[in-house]
Amino acid sequence: MCGIVGYVGRQDAVPVLLEGLARLEYRGYDSAGIAVVRNGTLRVHKRAGKVRDLAASMPKRLSGQVGIAHTRWATHGQPSDANAHPHVDMANRIAVVHNGMIEDSALLRERLRAEGVQFSSETDTELLAHLIAREDADDLEEAVRRALRRVHGAYGIAVLDATAPDRIVLARNGSPVLIGIGDHQMLCASDMAALVRHAQQVVHLEDGELATVTAESFSTATLDARPTVKTATTLESAASDYERGGFEHFMLKEISEQPQAIDATLRGRLDARLATARLGGLNLTARELRAFRRVHVIACGSALYAGMVGAGMLESLARIPAAAESAAEFRYRNAVIEPETLYVAVSQSGETADTLAAVEEIARKGGRVLGVVNVPGSSIARAVDGGIYLHAGPELSVASTKAFTSMTVAFALLALHLGRLRDLGPADGQRLLSALAKLPDKAAEALAAHDELKQLAAWIASAQSSFFIGRVRGYPVALEGAQKLKEVSYVHAEAYPAAELKHGPLALISPELPTVAIVPDDELLEKNLASLEQIHSRGGEVLAVAHRQLGTLADRLILVPKSEPELDPILLGLPLQLLAYYAAAALGRDIDQPRNLAKSVTVE
Ligand code: F6R
Repeated sequence: MCGIVGYVGRQDAVPVLLEGLARLEYRGYDSAGIAVVRNGTLRVHKRAGKVRDLAASMPKRLSGQVGIAHTRWATHGQPSDANAHPHVDMANRIAVVHNGMIEDSALLRERLRAEGVQFSSETDTELLAHLIAREDADDLEEAVRRALRRVHGAYGIAVLDATAPDRIVLARNGSPVLIGIGDHQMLCASDMAALVRHAQQVVHLEDGELATVTAESFSTATLDARPTVKTATTLESAASDYERGGFEHFMLKEISEQPQAIDATLRGRLDARLATARLGGLNLTARELRAFRRVHVIACGSALYAGMVGAGMLESLARIPAAAESAAEFRYRNAVIEPETLYVAVSQSGETADTLAAVEEIARKGGRVLGVVNVPGSSIARAVDGGIYLHAGPELSVASTKAFTSMTVAFALLALHLGRLRDLGPADGQRLLSALAKLPDKAAEALAAHDELKQLAAWIASAQSSFFIGRVRGYPVALEGAQKLKEVSYVHAEAYPAAELKHGPLALISPELPTVAIVPDDELLEKNLASLEQIHSRGGEVLAVAHRQLGTLADRLILVPKSEPELDPILLGLPLQLLAYYAAAALGRDIDQPRNLAKSVTVE
């Protein structure tokens, strides 16, 4: 989705901005642009296509010590040079880059048109440039403030004024804006990735806040001009966290990082003395945690499937009824918010619009929400009452892998913690603790068989379609396996609870339609084997992900190390990520930026 970066300082802004744009590429975009001020003149260069095309076509004389830039993911108007940001007013004085959506833009555009304003794009953002330029205010921040009071919608914006070339004005309402503090230079961005090279500290704007940023300082205030006080935090990630290293794709790098990511999610949280998990950020007392009668998990996409894995763990370890639901469904069905339900919002980015809206809806109605979030300081992390950070490190591949796995690990910790406050005995607590401690090594083992998986992936890639099946704990694993395959290889895959096959989908079974079956060595093994029989007897072929050999019932087999039954789903999904990756590679797909997808879905 869209990305913002801005720079003010002593260096030439153009290379800094281009590098920032390149670091935002992972979010998905279709056009990019840059604006700088030099000698009192605003210069803009923008175009549809990739950042490298923008850089290659950059006029030589374009330079300046202040500038803003943007990667756009089309919402209002198709991807084109004209619709790319930055957008300027008619006098070419004000430039604006914008993430989000102005809801009443059509109406306001008509009004401005009637007053003689000519628009040169179809975007809602251009409206902001005209509105700001038309304000007769003492300074740029006040002009932006007054313009923003006239619009409704979600925005993160950065504004440049050719007559005030020492500053950038920022504003946030529902879309993240960060200030990066460097050495005699300041940056701003919608995402930490664009700040890491030049900033040492970071400040998050709150909704309803504006900021004026110069090379040496910044100030913040609310939309009604009340100054606010901000605390800068040290930037934890390094520039290398946002680079591919020796890997061909971020997806492969992040798949391979999972043993370390699991370790980071577990670090400092295993309490051997009390046979429980130590979770410092829940902000709920033991008494409050015991009083909950239900857990309801809300999330989207892969985070939802991690939530389904988590709900299973909560139910079996803490013996508390738990279910997971799409945040997009939840937010629109006027759900009954119960005081005795603990709500858990799961999100890698912490910016997913539907999940954030669901959290706000729960909070409005007095429910308690915990976050299971990867990006520190993100909107969801700040909107919840408490939670568990994943510490998985930045995830740049559109297809979530290490964050998904860390989410399931975080749920295992939460389930253990809640379980030990309820009926889970110390022996079971110890059993899970020691299994959790072994997970990083077992994950490395589960991810070792690259050559074998490459061959299996070539087979899957040659199919038109495939089924992924699993039972109870295996079902969310199947859902996530199918999701990964679809999103990066574009091979159609459908996940079913194994027992559902005979209620319809068996009609499709044929030698041309492979089935990937999740077959853990647990109390449901016999049942799962019966499903494989049914597939075979209809001429279907099976790739089983299992803990042991399955004889002729599996035409192909991926062996995964065994953990405790409750934790098995964490490991069973790992080879399916590699299966999807290598299927996509075999088909020559754009693996890190699959078509039509964006990393963090900040619009509906
Ligand atoms: C799939 C994927 C998406 C995300 C979903 C939620 O690989 O990445 O399905 O899981 O868009 O995103 P977050 O976790 O950022 O809320």
